[in-house]
Amino acid sequence: MRNLLMRAAALAVPGMCVAVSPVQAHVSAEHDAPAIAPWQQASEWPDRIIASFEGDPATSIAVNWRTAASVTTAKAEIALALPDARFDQNARSIAATSETIDLDAIQRAGVRIPVEHNQGLPGASYHSVRFDGLAPNTLYAYRVEGADGKWSEWFQTRTAPARGTTATPEAPLRFIYLGDAQNGLDSHWPRVIRAAFQTAPDARFILHAGDLVNRGSRDLEWAQWFRAGGFIHGMVPAIPVAGNHEYDSIGLSEADRERALAFLWRPQFRLPVESALPAELHETVYDVRYSDDLQVFVLNSNARDLAAQAAWLDAKLTASTARWRIVTQHHPIYSSGNERDNPRLREILLPVLLKHKVDLMLQGHDHTYARGTIEDPVQLPARHSAGEAGSVTTMFVNSVSGPKQYEFRENGWTDYGASGVTLDRMAENTQFYQVITIDGGTLHYAAYTADGRLYDDVRLTKAADGTKTIAQEREELPDTRRFDNTLPYPGRGQ
Ligand SMILES: [Fe+2]
Repeated sequence: MRNLLMRAAALAVPGMCVAVSPVQAHVSAEHDAPAIAPWQQASEWPDRIIASFEGDPATSIAVNWRTAASVTTAKAEIALALPDARFDQNARSIAATSETIDLDAIQRAGVRIPVEHNQGLPGASYHSVRFDGLAPNTLYAYRVEGADGKWSEWFQTRTAPARGTTATPEAPLRFIYLGDAQNGLDSHWPRVIRAAFQTAPDARFILHAGDLVNRGSRDLEWAQWFRAGGFIHGMVPAIPVAGNHEYDSIGLSEADRERALAFLWRPQFRLPVESALPAELHETVYDVRYSDDLQVFVLNSNARDLAAQAAWLDAKLTASTARWRIVTQHHPIYSSGNERDNPRLREILLPVLLKHKVDLMLQGHDHTYARGTIEDPVQLPARHSAGEAGSVTTMFVNSVSGPKQYEFRENGWTDYGASGVTLDRMAENTQFYQVITIDGGTLHYAAYTADGRLYDDVRLTKAADGTKTIAQEREELPDTRRFDNTLPYPGRGQ
């Protein structure tokens, strides 16, 4: 197997000193490995460039990129994004942290993925930097390097506002939230991330609520995911959440198989490490404090032991002074996919959410759209009709950005009525993106279909004492989308 992989690898890497005629390459590729698109192959040029948060978003930005394995060291540069054509004269350089991923070794370790998934791929180097010491709310330009002199273009990205300032209607804080991409990454998903960027070009980050891809160890799917976002990934930092499809079953024998985070997750996303949590949760459970207005807490709902995360979240929320607190995880507290349920999440995590009156819970997994609320029992009962404000403790959303679609839970959320939640808006058979805008005391939540039409639209308003009201923004919204009033979904019911 090793020889086969190495031989295929030699054919696949451009620039390697192996004389192969096009005919030979064609024949060999047919016998040894599936054809590998040029855009999947790592080269001496940087690709899969993505920004993220590891430190304080007001003063730092993290960036990851990939090259061929032959590039073992790399660097990046950053400068203030000035109007001057040669703003780059004052750029400062920083050495990258680099690691090489050997796909062949990973196959031998027993990652249970069909060998053809990564066959012919020689492995690659993954590089990352964290630019520190930046000024808050300032536009920077950065670029990353592969082999000597092989630079990316300059990407512009803005740091978070300084603490002590607050968003206003004139200068709001906006971000994008996407449910499962997962499938159609080279066909049906690209239009969604691009439409989201068109709707909110000033988004400060994109929250990906898990199942970014379908097979977390399959390099091709990550190649497609990165290509779909293109320069958006470099400009708008990502807050990625680990879904069940970012996990693999690893181990050489059935007896010692266990589920583990896909090997590409940590090399390609530079994320905070919560050292107090078990190592297996590192870079999947973390928080991002984004100015005084917002704190995002990322959980890993794949973990068998949720208690450690519940305790971590409880402590973090207790200490948090952010005006708006949002929790995200892949599996929903309230399922919306038919015949799906996660009672352990309600048992272990819901009490923490309600104790702290977490404002928003953003989730994926169920390949449907659902938004609902739990009323605040100490306030007036919520009324969800247009124009009327009701009280709310926590708003829950499940969404999906990719083309894979499930039927909605048969009884809606009525089965969950005992916990006080009501379902306010739902959809089937539809790809969504969401734009969430904070302007101080209000949080505007808007869900759009892939064609850019507004589908769901509410505003949460928070008083100085922390009580919240919710109001629907518009009376006219599209009819509820269901399988029986939308285009047929091939394969449904089979
Ligand atoms: Fe999914």
